[in-house]
Amino acid sequence: MARGIGLGAPLSKIAVSKAHGEDSPYFAGWKAYDEDPYDPVANPTGVIQMGLAENQVSFDLLEDYLEQHPETASWSSGISGFKENALFQDYHGLQSFRKAMASLMEQIRGKRVKFNPDRMVLTAGATAANELLTFILADPGDAVLVPTPYYPGFDRDLQWRTGVKIFPVHCHSSNGFQLTLPSLQSAYSIAEASNLRVKALLITNPSNPLGTTMPRSLLEDILNFISQKNIHLISDEIYSGSVFSSPEFISVAEVVEASQHKNCDGVHIVYSLSKDLGLPGFRVGTIYSYNDRVVTTARRMSSFSLVSSQTQKMLASMLSDEEFTVKYIKTNRERLRRRHGYIVEGLKDAGIECLEGNAGLFCWMNLTQMLEEKSMEGELRLWKMILSEVKLNVSPGSSCYCAEPGWFRVCFANMTKETLEVALRRTKDFVEKIKGRKSNVIFRS
Ligand SMILES: Cc1ncc(COP(=O)(O)O)c(C=O)c1O
Repeated sequence: MARGIGLGAPLSKIAVSKAHGEDSPYFAGWKAYDEDPYDPVANPTGVIQMGLAENQVSFDLLEDYLEQHPETASWSSGISGFKENALFQDYHGLQSFRKAMASLMEQIRGKRVKFNPDRMVLTAGATAANELLTFILADPGDAVLVPTPYYPGFDRDLQWRTGVKIFPVHCHSSNGFQLTLPSLQSAYSIAEASNLRVKALLITNPSNPLGTTMPRSLLEDILNFISQKNIHLISDEIYSGSVFSSPEFISVAEVVEASQHKNCDGVHIVYSLSKDLGLPGFRVGTIYSYNDRVVTTARRMSSFSLVSSQTQKMLASMLSDEEFTVKYIKTNRERLRRRHGYIVEGLKDAGIECLEGNAGLFCWMNLTQMLEEKSMEGELRLWKMILSEVKLNVSPGSSCYCAEPGWFRVCFANMTKETLEVALRRTKDFVEKIKGRKSNVIFRS
């Protein structure tokens, strides 16, 4: 190695910062799974990964489509098609793909809203979309309000490279962890009193990790709030196509349209194909903004996180086939509904209650009765026990900044039904064992 550029040479502040949040139990659990992954034949006592919000329940529908339409994944016009794609690098993205994405988002919202493809900025997943918006809406040291519990990846996406701070808006079990206007107002005042300039509010609707959707009245309150405070709203709607039972999903776009786009300059929607379509590996996300300056800046910044033209071409062809997308959305919702019902019933049978949910790839499980000590330390001790004894990787609520100890997110769509059965059997045995150990703990029968 050349002298002077050894391993000891210092790195940038961003490189050495811990703000990426990868040291949390959320990611530690993934490592435990990677080291000892469950396999029904090769490793039946391994760790079952229930900490990954991945949708594999409808993968066969995508595979069938590709089998029936082999031209989708090939260069339809031969070698000239290859050249056209290989050279394409316009950061607007393919018009045909933006149109197909806009149409998919409209279908998911029951065609109650229109999306203009010219307002869509393509990004490498929702991860890049959320970071990019944060870069555009806030300066280092500014704050973004985020209701808790929230997706742990937001630490990385909103804070790490931007220098922006997440200011939590704590929600509580007493009203099903729903965000309220008073809690928003209070968090805003406390942030401002601590000399933080609040620039935006980020909501996740449907929520990860709660698996719930926001009612229209709350969305209206939120729009009034951001307009009153003159701040922006990022609505992460990555799970919008994964709402499987009532109440129906209401996008902030519907509330904007109902108000005839009054005060909508501050509204920005994030979407991606990672969850509803189960394609996180393709890295396809989008920002839909009602603000012209944000659209222009986001497009410029998207140069850092473009979607490959090959991916765009393939998905444009698949997603513009409305017969396929209509069937996919319907079947996927139905399969998620059944899966969700299955896990909720299985957990109930083991004596565990979940927050009532209607969306997403997970449920929010209440293990407060199993805590030896009602504290975040007590929660982490229980999480470690579940990981090492039961060999299940679930995500502790504290990794989602939940204000109350004892809640855990458990994913159900990234595995086969047989694996889920094993996980539920292990859970039931564990609860029985704990009951035996702590006979003074009162469980539901
Ligand atoms: C709420 C939320 N936003 C964004 C992301 C990141 O998604 P993507 O794979 O599209 O980057 C996730 C992934 O779990 C998520 O749950």
